[in-house]
Amino acid sequence: MRKALVLAVMALAVASCCGNKAVKSTDPRVDELLKKMTLEEKVGQTVLFTSDWTVTGPSMRSGYLEDIKAGRCGALLNAYTADFTREVQRVAVEETRLGIPILFGYDVIHGFRTIFPINLGMSCSWDIPAIEESARIAAEEAAAAGLQWTYSPMCDISVEPRWGRISEGSGEDPYLGSLISAAMTRGYQGDDLSKDNTILACVKHFAAYGAPQAGRDYNTVDMSERWFREFYLPPYKAAIDAGALSVMASFNELDGVPAHASNHLMNEILKNEWGFQGFVVSDYTGINEMIMHGYAADESHAAELSMNAGLDMDMMSAAYMNHLTDLVKSGKVSEKTLDNAVRRILNIKAALGLLDDPYKYCDTEREKERTLTPENKAFARQIAAESMVLLKNNGVLPLKKGEKVAVLGPMATTKDDFLGSWRGAGQVESVPASIEDAIKEVTPVAASASKVVLVLGEPWSWTGEAASRTSINLPKEQTELLKSLKKQGKTVALVLLNGRPLDLSEESEWADAILEAWYPGTMGGYAVADVLFGDYNPSGKLSVTFPRNLGQVPIYHYAKNTGRPYIHPDAKYESRYLDCPNEPLYAFGHGLSYTTFEYSNPVIPGTDRESPMLKGDGTLTVKVTVTNTGKVAGTETVQLYIRDLVGSVTRPVKQLKGFERITLQPGECREVSFTIDKEMISFYRQDMTWGPEAGDFKVFIGGASDNVKEASFGYEI
Ligand code: BGC
Repeated sequence: MRKALVLAVMALAVASCCGNKAVKSTDPRVDELLKKMTLEEKVGQTVLFTSDWTVTGPSMRSGYLEDIKAGRCGALLNAYTADFTREVQRVAVEETRLGIPILFGYDVIHGFRTIFPINLGMSCSWDIPAIEESARIAAEEAAAAGLQWTYSPMCDISVEPRWGRISEGSGEDPYLGSLISAAMTRGYQGDDLSKDNTILACVKHFAAYGAPQAGRDYNTVDMSERWFREFYLPPYKAAIDAGALSVMASFNELDGVPAHASNHLMNEILKNEWGFQGFVVSDYTGINEMIMHGYAADESHAAELSMNAGLDMDMMSAAYMNHLTDLVKSGKVSEKTLDNAVRRILNIKAALGLLDDPYKYCDTEREKERTLTPENKAFARQIAAESMVLLKNNGVLPLKKGEKVAVLGPMATTKDDFLGSWRGAGQVESVPASIEDAIKEVTPVAASASKVVLVLGEPWSWTGEAASRTSINLPKEQTELLKSLKKQGKTVALVLLNGRPLDLSEESEWADAILEAWYPGTMGGYAVADVLFGDYNPSGKLSVTFPRNLGQVPIYHYAKNTGRPYIHPDAKYESRYLDCPNEPLYAFGHGLSYTTFEYSNPVIPGTDRESPMLKGDGTLTVKVTVTNTGKVAGTETVQLYIRDLVGSVTRPVKQLKGFERITLQPGECREVSFTIDKEMISFYRQDMTWGPEAGDFKVFIGGASDNVKEASFGYEI
């Protein structure tokens, strides 16, 4: 008992001494400023308000310009254009005592003016350099409109199709998600934040926001520390390792503590363990929402909890503005803690070059030149085509140019839905063609034709924030339309515009082909036509599992075996359903092409043992030969999965550990090799240390998680 008490006291002491981890000023002007600042001016730097342009939640105050003038607000969101930001910046620089420039932030999530596919869509391209390029272009356009800060990348892994925000992330896999969040960070920040075409990335939502119970947005999250670290945490970490210098706290609680007051997340993991040097911002009114969580007694208590837990900047709660000064005066928050928060924020303003030239992002000529350029639009068309996933094809696709087709369905003429949620400053007027318009440019369109391109889906507002659903079906009338066309004897190529994995069990039986086009962005109409007519041979692979029905959810490829895996078709006491197969409708990694690829068995050459051995810090090479066995050139994503057969804690049956996109001409074959090392088989062992364990492993290679060939190897320390 006594020992437990001593340990608890020690733990408390450790927790409070980590406090808001001190960072050094990276620019001598930051220290100079800190010396000159009054307590109120310091607090002002921790305050982020919205302009009155767009709000994503309840607006707490409208007088933001007055706040800026009074030094009560150091950053602004939802304000852009070179002209407008110049005027607001002028107020900050010329009408405040110290003239500290404002930091302008905005949700640039999948493009700024040129809109790319939603992030879930882009992740299905598995084209990491292209995803990086999308972020680079977004940064270029945003920076030209006076912005220096985007609330992206969204690193929330999710296995919850009910959750509307699954559309904003990169799917269900920690490895793929990590590569994407790092690539987006590089794309936004480039190699020098002070350039006029790079912006600060913000890793969100920290952490595990993608795991709300029952898929309802903002809902409770609870899981073991092991699962959290293994499955949910890697993409945030990858973005930090790639240099991201801001992080946004998430609305959810984790292990009973709202993320906005989590010393464990912000001080311990982020700042101490990972050595994060940037600043942490709250989500919109996230600090005072802790009162409703039942964690803070009032707004002052909420401010105290957040600041002491390592949250440096308050977005829209006004809790810091209203209470931090008194909290410091009363000693509930130390001035050192506040200074650390302010130093982190000022360091970033310095790194962005704002202390050198506060107006450097406010150039109207540059704004015109760099926005919606033909190159940006061409790239948007390319990445949109790459993001689409051909789920089914009985041979109806590709269509032939010149043949008669009907283009039907409630979404055939939409342009608005292409932009999805969080559409930045994207405008419907910039979308040149709907799917129907684009098809009309390639072939004669007639309603009576026997081949039908049927465009169905969810309106864009059914996904994104606060857009969870308890059904993942298409609207009933849409499925009925598909059925009635089939009953009339038509051949139907179904094109889907949506932002979550859907239950397509019925549609997959009726449709002749299904192309998952997501919300494909500004150039979506042309990109769909490119794929339908074979100008682009589809290459997308699902980054998220499509279940047969909602009852299977959560269903994902990174699953464990259980003690009674389903093996025997007639067995009762195995892990299975009475009314539905265990397998999903479309597995993670699935995606068809207009050609076919054949895989050889994987081989691990070079050892004399039956099962080749990976030793200590050494490596093994596994090789496979992939052949294009069809009639057209195509791009295939060769996927590598590993299984650790026996562990000190149970391991998933398949973990994605590598992939390579290759393009092959008809008849061409290519050897693809992967290097296996101990990092690839490392995990949080029973004692929570990270590392490999000796034993036997399987390696699987193929074109989808449910279509692989395997080989074996062993590991000895
Ligand atoms: C969202 C964030 C977003 C913020 C600012 C919040 O409601 O959760 O993802 O960055 O608003 O718009």
